[in-house]
Amino acid sequence: MIVHDFSKHNSLINQYIREMRDVSIQKDFLRFRKNVERVGELLAYEMSKSLPYETITVKTPLGTKEVSVPKADIVLCSVLRAGLPLHQGILNVFDGVENAFISAFRHHPNGEDDFEVIVEYLAAPSIEGKTLILADPMLATGRTFENVLRALKTHGTPKKIHLISIIGAKAGIFLADTVFPSETELWIAAVDDALNERGYIVPGLGDAGDLCYGKKI
Ligand code: URA
Repeated sequence: MIVHDFSKHNSLINQYIREMRDVSIQKDFLRFRKNVERVGELLAYEMSKSLPYETITVKTPLGTKEVSVPKADIVLCSVLRAGLPLHQGILNVFDGVENAFISAFRHHPNGEDDFEVIVEYLAAPSIEGKTLILADPMLATGRTFENVLRALKTHGTPKKIHLISIIGAKAGIFLADTVFPSETELWIAAVDDALNERGYIVPGLGDAGDLCYGKKI
């Protein structure tokens, strides 16, 4: 897997990540969601440079001009629920793509730290031979992406996969590297060293779904 870690470069992405992590700023739901969306836009823009391109001729009122545009059938699949603002950010950039949604949640039997990832809902077009973008803000253990990939197998085999995440843990990136095809590319705003005993990224930012939409039971 090819990893593009944007925390290694100076850009506004770092400013938005700082605001998402900061306990005194992140409680503003609107700002948090907007920052997820903005980072989605910027990561999608960076990703767009890696797509195949074709030259087409555009007709203006005064003449014609050749222009190089992306040539890819893209399906954007996001993981509910924290994936929603990330999805919107990517969609702001790739407005013509097909869309897919999948739900994945952590089930902790008896409230223990260990958990299984349950995938319940999948609404997706065919991904056969297409470019698949999988978007999940937090790449923690990597098990959500692993389960999502398994669930999507019923919808075909993509030609190429791009993963877009806000923050990842090294362990999750390691697992993703073992389960996704080697040419898969990960576009990520920051990578942290550790996971805690409940599989949360440390220092991370907390629960991205709760910070977007409030606490759940
Ligand atoms: N999901 C989150 O929202 N945060 C984490 O740190 C890990 C998974």
